[in-house]
Amino acid sequence: MAKVTVVGAGNVGATCANVLATREVCSELVLLDIKEGVAEGKILDMYQCATLMDFDTNMVGVTNDYAATAGSDVVVITSGMPRKPGMTREELIGVNAGIVKSVATEILKHSPNAILVIVSNPMDPMAYLTLKATGLPKNRVVGLGGALDSARFKCYLAKALGVNSNDIEGMVIGGHGDTTMIPLISKASVKGVPVTQLCKDKAVLDKVAADTMVGGATLTKLLGTSAWYAPGAASASVVEAIVRDQKKIIPACVYLEGEYGQKDICIGVPTVIGRNGAERVVELELTAEEKELFEKSAEAVRKTNAILTEIKAL
Ligand code: 2OP
Repeated sequence: MAKVTVVGAGNVGATCANVLATREVCSELVLLDIKEGVAEGKILDMYQCATLMDFDTNMVGVTNDYAATAGSDVVVITSGMPRKPGMTREELIGVNAGIVKSVATEILKHSPNAILVIVSNPMDPMAYLTLKATGLPKNRVVGLGGALDSARFKCYLAKALGVNSNDIEGMVIGGHGDTTMIPLISKASVKGVPVTQLCKDKAVLDKVAADTMVGGATLTKLLGTSAWYAPGAASASVVEAIVRDQKKIIPACVYLEGEYGQKDICIGVPTVIGRNGAERVVELELTAEEKELFEKSAEAVRKTNAILTEIKAL
């Protein structure tokens, strides 16, 4: 069984740790935060659920003690600022780039073989920065976005179609941004039946796609900060796919070298996730409209990536 570290004991990191603990995904779990006592407190609180929820996971919370993370197989990086109502994820780049880079560097000193799951926003540039700054092979940097956006897509589809969300297959590719994500309506289905067959009203499906794209912003407005239950659970699902070598096809933010016509970029595409991290990109046949949206999405992600050089993060 694996050792997993979650860096950042804020809402998303702590929720991710809680899901990992309750689902007994790893044999050892470390939660690290820079704020004195927060990770320790959250882990103690979780431990007190063990007898109530019948789980048994070895876990420890630490304040900035990277030595405790040594030998981790998977590390989830959630560090940095979350967005406030009205902010885009991209606006966080100036604050979060330095944090993510230094966390990744520190982690690799103690866990040179770890696979890094990047959650901090803006997620696509943060995955790109991590990959470039650390020089890790591309399979070892997996950005979260699509797993979360696809869960939101299925939720909105289930509500619109009046079906169980667990019966839905659906993916969101592209960037993890309000205007860059691409919910693939053409490929979504309920028990194998295309959603376009189940719902002939294009306006309903267009609204599902639009709601999905601003799924995070809607929650940020309601909550006053960014969401955590689904982001935490989505991060944990990526960790679980790695630790249990599930070979699940998850739309993850990975480095492309020609796939989908893109190079030198980290962006969301369906990827086989297993013990070696991002094991293989799956190339879908996109419609002409989806292809165009993907190109636009990549262009927008590249623009944000360019800021990494301007602010000297790269
Ligand atoms: C979200 O979409 C935190 O980016 C994350 O909720």
